[in-house]
Amino acid sequence: MTETITRGAANQAGAHINKDAYAEAKDFLPLNGVDHVEFWVGNARQAAHYYRALWGFTPVAYAGLETGVRDRTSYVLRQNDITLVVTGALSPDTEIAEHVKRHGDGVKDIAFGVDDATSSWRETTKRGARSEMEPAELDGGEDGVLRRSAVGTYGEVRHSFIDRRDYHGAFAPGYRKIKKPAAAATGLSLLEIDHCVGNVELGDMNKFVEYYRDVFGFAQLIHYDDKVIHTEYSALMSKVMTNGNGRIKFPINEPASGKKKSQIQEFLDYYLDNGTQHIALRTEDIVGTVRQLRENGIEFLGMPHAYYETLADRVGDVGVPIDTLEQLGIEADRDEEGYLLQIFTRPIQDRPTFFFEIIERHGSRGFGVGNFKALFEAIEIEQARRGNL
Ligand code: FE2
Repeated sequence: MTETITRGAANQAGAHINKDAYAEAKDFLPLNGVDHVEFWVGNARQAAHYYRALWGFTPVAYAGLETGVRDRTSYVLRQNDITLVVTGALSPDTEIAEHVKRHGDGVKDIAFGVDDATSSWRETTKRGARSEMEPAELDGGEDGVLRRSAVGTYGEVRHSFIDRRDYHGAFAPGYRKIKKPAAAATGLSLLEIDHCVGNVELGDMNKFVEYYRDVFGFAQLIHYDDKVIHTEYSALMSKVMTNGNGRIKFPINEPASGKKKSQIQEFLDYYLDNGTQHIALRTEDIVGTVRQLRENGIEFLGMPHAYYETLADRVGDVGVPIDTLEQLGIEADRDEEGYLLQIFTRPIQDRPTFFFEIIERHGSRGFGVGNFKALFEAIEIEQARRGNL
């Protein structure tokens, strides 16, 4: 039996939590976590510097002409358990160039670490996944063999399955280690990917919820209805899917009708497809990390003073003075399990599409539903500045 309860606290109304989600998730697809996220971008070399100099990622591996790769340039960037890959095209007639032309910079691959790339592919394609890459052994010579396969999800995003157990080289065959990388920004402590959010067309949310349930064996953790995620003008709905060990959490958003354009619709209008809206990076020092990111020039969504005036009443003690939260623009939320602190960047590329979230969790496994309304009002101010509301 699925137990669905509606949170009692006023700011949690409209959030339907499924307490049995982890037990319900099927284990035919054991996932060890997110191996890496790959962005296809207009200029990988400059994107790599952005993540290094501003976000504190160390460039650890490179693929391109010098390593025998003829159609693309890739940099692998790492910070603790987070691995990002930025890839750009070397000629106009490649799928990478086409992707960037249509979508701008964006997420192409949310890759899972697995113990068996063949059975992961077989189990998911058997259940209806679109194959993007049949199981393959990439020969790394002395470095061993990397096994991988891939299936598609919403839009042009794909999920690769990566088995590194017999591979000891730099990231993957075709890559070489960057021996003396330029120094990464210091003072940042981003630890792991907390969740990855997909934006899909109106009517597609349930389709992809079912896709993650039927094809990947995920279960629905939370359903936020449009009663909780709306402002005076616009609305959205969201369902959060999780795998059995809770390491993978994918909220799926779709726009809901309102007087004006939903932020989800703005994303879709500029990305021209379903796509990844944001990735949340977990830290255990959000104050120090955000302070450093701001010094480095990263721009965040601003929250109004009124938000902080009532914050202490809503969330109680969150270990950081409210003044400090306001100074840095950090939001807080509390549910029955604990609290969380979070903040959202502005879109990080030219188009108003992908952005990052930084999150610090203290017991709460939620997504900051108490902040949704204030947050969406803040986004609407930015949408209006862009002439898109
Ligand atoms: Fe999020």
